[in-house]
Amino acid sequence: MKQNLSRRNFVKGSTLAGLGALLIPQASKTEPTQRKAEVRTAVVIASSNGLRATAKAMEMVQSGSDALDAVVAGVNIIEDDPNDMTVGYGGLPNEDGVVELDASVMHGPTHRCGAVASLRNIKNPSKVARVVMERTDHVLLVGEGALKFARMHGFKEENLLTEEARDMWVKWKENLSTQDDYLPPHSVDVKNIGSKLDEVMQTYGTINCLAKDLKGNISGVTTTSGLSYKIAGRVGDSPIIGAGLYLDNEIGAAGSTGRGEANLTSCNSVMIVEWMGQGKSPEEACLMACKRVVDHTKMKRLLKDDGKPNFNVTFYAINKRGDYGSAAIWSNATFIVHDGVTNSKLDSAYLFKRTEI
Ligand code: GLY
Repeated sequence: MKQNLSRRNFVKGSTLAGLGALLIPQASKTEPTQRKAEVRTAVVIASSNGLRATAKAMEMVQSGSDALDAVVAGVNIIEDDPNDMTVGYGGLPNEDGVVELDASVMHGPTHRCGAVASLRNIKNPSKVARVVMERTDHVLLVGEGALKFARMHGFKEENLLTEEARDMWVKWKENLSTQDDYLPPHSVDVKNIGSKLDEVMQTYGTINCLAKDLKGNISGVTTTSGLSYKIAGRVGDSPIIGAGLYLDNEIGAAGSTGRGEANLTSCNSVMIVEWMGQGKSPEEACLMACKRVVDHTKMKRLLKDDGKPNFNVTFYAINKRGDYGSAAIWSNATFIVHDGVTNSKLDSAYLFKRTEI
């Protein structure tokens, strides 16, 4: 039955009951109805590392700020924090030990967007993305051009590689292979030096933050240092409008964290917004996006023995009413919601219960 259900039919025709019965191997942990009560005046959501971002953004929204001002100010706190090693200053570097940042912003009322990718030396790529949106006729600037543009607009250059991030990069490099010339600290009795790669796993950290302000306008931002130890110049989904971030001021907004390559090949943020436009709740639409990623994952190297993906992607969404939701391929993902009163960490819905990936 599952195999016979074409994606087009699934998107067009699935009911909520059908979604649960046919397409979600493990039922969602969360109750969509709990997240769809009264129409909310304002709401801010973020990925699990965004507790301070949502607090700041909601404070600004409640003071009358535009949602874009609020979410950018929110994620700037995380970009500035050396202890979050997945974004901005302190983010884990590429394979050469250089921090390269990606970010996108999108503004609902004007349906404008801006983005930067592979930006070096500037700790707030989200701010640069915003200036791309406001002060150019373009949407995306990359690499040297993005840096030149940031310099032109007065952004201060600095070394973004903290000692902790450098230590982790060196450990990764020294454990890449037992055959190369880099050696981690070792004693004379040890063989196979440089084989502890599992202790320095690659990560895909990111922060996505979406808000609806007091005027009912919606905006969002996604910012990241991307895949740790990536090939220099690698760009994930975060700065790609339609993949790592998308919104329609009349419908809602969506964003993502996790394995960018899996989302780049499915462009799920735009799909989530379209599905919400067709009446799906934010959580239902996020689950559909997870299913879409799974359907599109064909390469054996990305699948476990049971055929399920060996990676995770998490989606976040709000709609025009202020309903919110999140879903991941694998369980144990969380997200942050500020509903105007409380700033809480909630469980994301999921497709598969995690025992191990
Ligand atoms: N989702 C962030 C990245 O893959 O770069």
